[in-house]
Amino acid sequence: MTGQNQLAVDFLETCRARVDAELDRCIEQDSASGRLQEAMRYSVLGGGKRIRPALCLAAARALGQSGDQALIPACAVELVHAYSLIHDDLPAMDDDELRRGRPTTHIAFDEATAILAGDALQALAFGWLAEAPGLSESARLAMVQELAGASGHRGMVGGQAIDLESVGKTLALSQLETMHRHKTGALIEASVRIGAITAPSVSKQALASLTRYAKALGLAFQVQDDLLDIEGDTEVIGKPQGSDAARSKPTYPALLGVAGAREHLADLLETAQQSLREFGPEADPLRAMADYVVARTH
Ligand code: IPE
Ligand code: IPE
Ligand code: MG
Ligand code: MG
Ligand code: MG
Repeated sequence: MTGQNQLAVDFLETCRARVDAELDRCIEQDSASGRLQEAMRYSVLGGGKRIRPALCLAAARALGQSGDQALIPACAVELVHAYSLIHDDLPAMDDDELRRGRPTTHIAFDEATAILAGDALQALAFGWLAEAPGLSESARLAMVQELAGASGHRGMVGGQAIDLESVGKTLALSQLETMHRHKTGALIEASVRIGAITAPSVSKQALASLTRYAKALGLAFQVQDDLLDIEGDTEVIGKPQGSDAARSKPTYPALLGVAGAREHLADLLETAQQSLREFGPEADPLRAMADYVVARTH
């Protein structure tokens, strides 16, 4: 394992422990209904990699912050991610029965409960941002705006709509890129930008560089996800291998071939790393996370 990769694994592990503990504590406190609460906890605490919260904390670190004030915002982004996965797996969408090595939420519970758990997690996320401790009102507002933009029709949900409309079609490369930038890239970009917003003063230039990093990484993330759908092992990826092909989804490997997709991934990694040129060693966790995202096996 390379040094950067080990740094990413260690950083992710530390973030995962902090984020899991906070999610466990807060969802317990915030929820009212028994079965709904159970489905929310099942979906959120079911062993995700926590890449988005780690990126949020790593962005705060790159700007000299300990990350304490970024913890609740990082968890909020993970709540939106968890909700997006519940809905993504529903029969009306990708119709998948395995996620994180366990039955998807609608299989473990039922469809209505899964839909409601996703809805509730989304609302909870915005509540947490609005009340994030240790941050100014203007920072909280900016975070809410970031997450709203990245989650809705101009972000993740818009990308999911393009995904569903595109089943069975051959998209042009630019259309595929637009789809991926929305359905996956937007939330990854928001993770980094929300982490940056938790720093008391972030220069326009630093924010622009971090945004460039996040845009490249967000796209790279979905290219690797598409590759894992072909090359991964169900046991390792924890979700059904071949799901994209079975549903005739447009993907990077489908359009460019596996080798072409890999080349594109390498270019995106290069762009992400170059975007961090002006930062010192405090951005090493971000650098390591980029290496990890393109090399990950699950
Ligand atoms: C999977 O995201 C969904 C995509 C946007 C491709 P992750 O690979 O981050 O899923 P978890 O949270 O680790 O399960
Ligand atoms: C998911 O894309 C994007 C989301 C917004 C959840 P995929 O459909 O490729 O994600 P997986 O492969 O099911 O995790
Ligand atoms: Mg999908
Ligand atoms: Mg899916
Ligand atoms: Mg996928």
